[in-house]
Amino acid sequence: MTIRTKLMSMSNPTPCTKPPDMSDTQGRGLYVKTWGCQMNVYDSVRMVDMLRPLGWHPVDAPEAADMIVLNTCHIREKATEKLYSELGRLRADKIASGRKLLVAVTGCVAQAEGDEILRRAPVVDLVVGPQAYHRLPELIARTTREAGLKLVDTDFPVVSKFDLLPQETAGQGAIAMLAVQEGCDKFCSFCVVPYTRGAEASRPAADVLAEAQRLVATGAREITLLGQNVNAYHGTGPDGRTWNLARLLRAVADIEGVTRLRYMTSHPRDMDDELVRAHAEIPALMPFLHLPVQSGSDQILQAMNRQHSAADYLRIVDKLRAARPDLALSSDFIVGHPGETSADFDATLKLVETVGFAAAYSFKYSVRPGTPAASLGMQIEESVKDERLARLQEAIGRGAAAFNQTTVGSVVPVLFDRAGRRPGQMHGRTPWLQAVHVTAPTRLLGQIADVRIDAAHANSVSGTVVTANAVEAA
Ligand code: SAH
Ligand code: SF4
Ligand code: F3S
Repeated sequence: MTIRTKLMSMSNPTPCTKPPDMSDTQGRGLYVKTWGCQMNVYDSVRMVDMLRPLGWHPVDAPEAADMIVLNTCHIREKATEKLYSELGRLRADKIASGRKLLVAVTGCVAQAEGDEILRRAPVVDLVVGPQAYHRLPELIARTTREAGLKLVDTDFPVVSKFDLLPQETAGQGAIAMLAVQEGCDKFCSFCVVPYTRGAEASRPAADVLAEAQRLVATGAREITLLGQNVNAYHGTGPDGRTWNLARLLRAVADIEGVTRLRYMTSHPRDMDDELVRAHAEIPALMPFLHLPVQSGSDQILQAMNRQHSAADYLRIVDKLRAARPDLALSSDFIVGHPGETSADFDATLKLVETVGFAAAYSFKYSVRPGTPAASLGMQIEESVKDERLARLQEAIGRGAAAFNQTTVGSVVPVLFDRAGRRPGQMHGRTPWLQAVHVTAPTRLLGQIADVRIDAAHANSVSGTVVTANAVEAA
């Protein structure tokens, strides 16, 4: 049975029975734990925001919560297992403390596993898929009203949840995310996302622009437009025409106060010339792009159904660098996809050397039931995956260190977004998304200031503020 049919069979809220427990939900603590991608982080932000006016206030520790939301990721087996170990811990805590606690599982595991979660983990009250979380208030009300009723809602609504979600009630700070597109039609051999998030859907441009304006009004200086496949964006514009991502980026960049703009995650197939040109023409568009390639071998790229070759990818990188010479790139890689030979893996290492990524994420292929690659022969042994991952990570690490080193000695604009690790320190981001730790006054929070980069570390850089006052440069 494919994942999609499994999802369909669970698409309606499923009541189960359990003794009554919860009544009043006013002024109660809400703890949200998030796994997975930026889209899941954004969804968590929206859930908290939606529940706040209903009397749920965010708390920092699960022990202080009356409701715990576990916003889950299904991308690799490990990510899914993390949910069940967390639920085991929660059950033990709940029994030991004897307190009332509402537990909701949301996100991609909720979508993929539905009421199986209730069977495996009786501590759970609500299972809500990523396209149904706008109904959380109603589901919470029902489960608290009706004698411990348990509900599963993994519906894919005809109307986008974004049209039904209430407007945000709070900002996100200096660095904000904004979902513009959701779902994926690419069906890469290994990936669950098309099944857990459904078909590609784009939000109308006017909604995106209005949300961007509200984010700026509440302190955002940097906005990242999010989508599982963001460069496939094709929303209706205010002019009635279909806007692509390049058009949308121009309009968001035109909003006063948007100093920095990014977008993720992109697919190489949808990296069209207009979008490449946007990197040359939109000053607010930061010189950093996450462009997953997965493999450097044409045979494996074909087996993955990525719909492009290694040479296609290198051509896109060349075009991007021609448009924006200071552009740095990051990527995602999978080692040990079924059928990957050592020659295929060498081609991946070669591509890493050729491109010189500033950063990259790499994963061992994880079999996902219901996806095409799960039923392919030629699965790769774990020990071979381990060895390839270690070699790939070493190559990626070398590239990242080399990139960070190139910034040492230069003066770069840093956007400060939070307090740093040590007293007196602030944390910020360079245009290339490097984390920076600097001794700086807290008044720089939410501001951009020039910083001289003094040293490069494994995953960050450190430096010194060189402008007395925050400056307005990007
Ligand atoms: N939409 C994005 C990201 C999808 S998930 C894209 O198209 O690239 C993020 C990353 O997880 C993927 O880029 C891929 O590298 C990794 N991933 C997805 N499925 C995986 C699997 N079954 N095993 C290992 N890694 C996987
Ligand atoms: Fe998954 Fe491929 Fe879609 Fe990315 S493009 S979300 S890897 S199916
Ligand atoms: Fe994970 Fe779902 Fe994102 S599977 S990576 S949370 S789209």
